Amino acid sequence: MQNLTAVITGVGKALPDRRVTNADLEQMVETSDEWISKRVGIKERRMVADGEWTSHLAARAAKDALAMSGLAADALDLIIVSTTTPDTLYPSVSCLVQREIGAARAGAMDVAAACTGFIYAMGTAWAMIRSGLMKHVMVIAAEVVTSSLDWTDRDTCVLFGDGAGAVVLSAAEGGGAGILSMRLQADGNYADILKLPNSGSRAFPEYAGRFIKMQGNDVFKHAVRDMTECATDALAAAGLTIGDVSLVIPHQANIRIIDAIATRLGVPPEKVFINIEKYGNTSSATIPIALCEAVEQGRLKPGDVFIIDAFGAGLTWGAMAIRWK
Ligand code: COA
Repeated sequence: MQNLTAVITGVGKALPDRRVTNADLEQMVETSDEWISKRVGIKERRMVADGEWTSHLAARAAKDALAMSGLAADALDLIIVSTTTPDTLYPSVSCLVQREIGAARAGAMDVAAACTGFIYAMGTAWAMIRSGLMKHVMVIAAEVVTSSLDWTDRDTCVLFGDGAGAVVLSAAEGGGAGILSMRLQADGNYADILKLPNSGSRAFPEYAGRFIKMQGNDVFKHAVRDMTECATDALAAAGLTIGDVSLVIPHQANIRIIDAIATRLGVPPEKVFINIEKYGNTSSATIPIALCEAVEQGRLKPGDVFIIDAFGAGLTWGAMAIRWK
């Protein structure tokens, strides 16, 4: 049995040009820049233009990641897109990306695990590579969350934005750089605290439209507890302690959730990557966008261990420990 793992060889991101500031939202609902900045940590978020879809953002991020990896598109064995805001349920976003980037040999599938979807997609890609079945897998998270927002509901519309991030994972000998460990978890008993009614085969006559419904306080508590536990478990599974970690890249849902997790993990602020002020919560895309920016800013050096850690509807949550190449 070969000792294989998956190394990140390329990262990319795509954000729509249109900025929606807190001042813009003040014109739409009873809110304030002060409330959103203090309670959530967001100053602005991005929103797609008319005619700009999830697949457009996904393909742009994928092209960036592919360019950095130096691979030709037809080297890819599989494209996995994490999204719960696809252009359509079928064709999948991954098939549209496959066409757009010309990945002639690649299989393609979408994964739905809400805000945790990028980690579920990475885990699936890791397993394919680790088993020896595949060599190069493109993992993308792409979301147009603004398509699911009720712009009259201040409890939710101030929190989210649109964007995409991508990584190329390639087979490498284990024991060096690459994915070190993974935890994937879920608890359907809390399915009701964060949901998107009228988005599938079930009708919800009690809700008009297809808009995010959330019990914010409950979600907050679960996010802090579950993301802390999961990151701790992923480190233990890799035989590491928090002192070995150079950077934590958490899901960007609320600055107070991120701060609470950092405190519980015992990580100083300079080792936590935060960009929520610019983009808000782009659902499963927050982590690959943040990873891409961490790389652009030189925050990861060869050999550094970093943690990705996410939480979302389902409930789902997950974490990975990864050594930068
Ligand atoms: N602007 C101004 N005031 C607002 C507001 C807004 N956008 N949204 C809510 N408020 C008000 C509430 O009505 C409430 O007013 P009241 O005290 O007069 O009743 C007050 O602010 C406090 O509301 P509360 O819900 O207790 O605030 P909070 O501190 O829990 O923050 C969230 C609310 C939603 C920001 C927070 O619970 C949260 O981030 N939860 C997690 C959400 C999340 O991350 N979801 C995605 C997970 S992947």
